[in-house]
Amino acid sequence: MKILGTVQETKQEIRAWKKAGLSVGLVPTMGFLHEGHLSLIQRAKKENDKVVVSIFVNPTQFGKGEDLESYPRDLEKDAQLCEAEGVDLIFHPTPEEMYPTGFHTYVNVETLSETLCGKSRPTHFRGVCTVVSKLFHIAAPDRAYFGQKDAQQLAIVKRMVRDLDFDVEVIGCPIIRESDGLAKSSRNTYLNEEQRRAATVLHRALLYGETLLRQGQRDVTQLEREIRAQIEKEPLAQIDYVQIVDALSMQPVPKVEEEILVALAVRIGNTRLIDNLMFTTEN
Ligand code: PAJ
Repeated sequence: MKILGTVQETKQEIRAWKKAGLSVGLVPTMGFLHEGHLSLIQRAKKENDKVVVSIFVNPTQFGKGEDLESYPRDLEKDAQLCEAEGVDLIFHPTPEEMYPTGFHTYVNVETLSETLCGKSRPTHFRGVCTVVSKLFHIAAPDRAYFGQKDAQQLAIVKRMVRDLDFDVEVIGCPIIRESDGLAKSSRNTYLNEEQRRAATVLHRALLYGETLLRQGQRDVTQLEREIRAQIEKEPLAQIDYVQIVDALSMQPVPKVEEEILVALAVRIGNTRLIDNLMFTTEN
């Protein structure tokens, strides 16, 4: 397994594979890898001849006062995990390599980026789309793997790929959870023991919402209210949003029809956690 830090070397390596007719799967990450990331890598491994993992804590997707500096990093351990999964190449650039002096170009997916997480993090998805565009150009993957954990990110990247005619298949992968239901996340390391226990409220509230949906509840206001009430039972939890949106457009819906996303963001102490649930009606 190679670890490369420059765009040029990485392009060269991957172009040689493509010339030889090999398919390439890309798994973009910010590192501090856990089983969620590994599930994407394993899927990529199954479906492609070569697998590239990018590890880059992307500064443009962090807002002022967010956790860019404190975001956990451990390249050595990440490299061991990738090696064990049979990854062929880690792309690990510096911020200067990705954003040299004079950088002025950004990719923004309108509308979808403005709801849910985009409300409290107004420049976040612009940073994500910009870095993902760069990664797609650098790695020229046949397939790229993203987690349903970040459902809005996945929907936005899919939209971007369609709108800008990127030649890549974007593949969404299921949420991997801890045994108590908490969605795996690099940010879970910020939680102390008490907060870690409190964090299980996100999944519990979603399961409660799912039960109501299965029982036939289709009133969005009512569903959102019931899910909020579950979260409010946990004193350490502070709700950022609980919202039901259309699964493709990420826009609020008046009632549950076809495919919807129940999305939530909750602060436990200073840590902002997200989780979600997809639901499709029968008809
Ligand atoms: P990061 O948070 O490191 O996540 C990398 C990928 O792993 C994302 O597609 C995310 O949805 C997926 N992932 C994280 N936790 C998961 C879980 N519990 N189950 C399944 N998949 C999970 O998302 C980013 O990095 C960045 O925004 C990035 C796309 C790399 C752009 O900088």
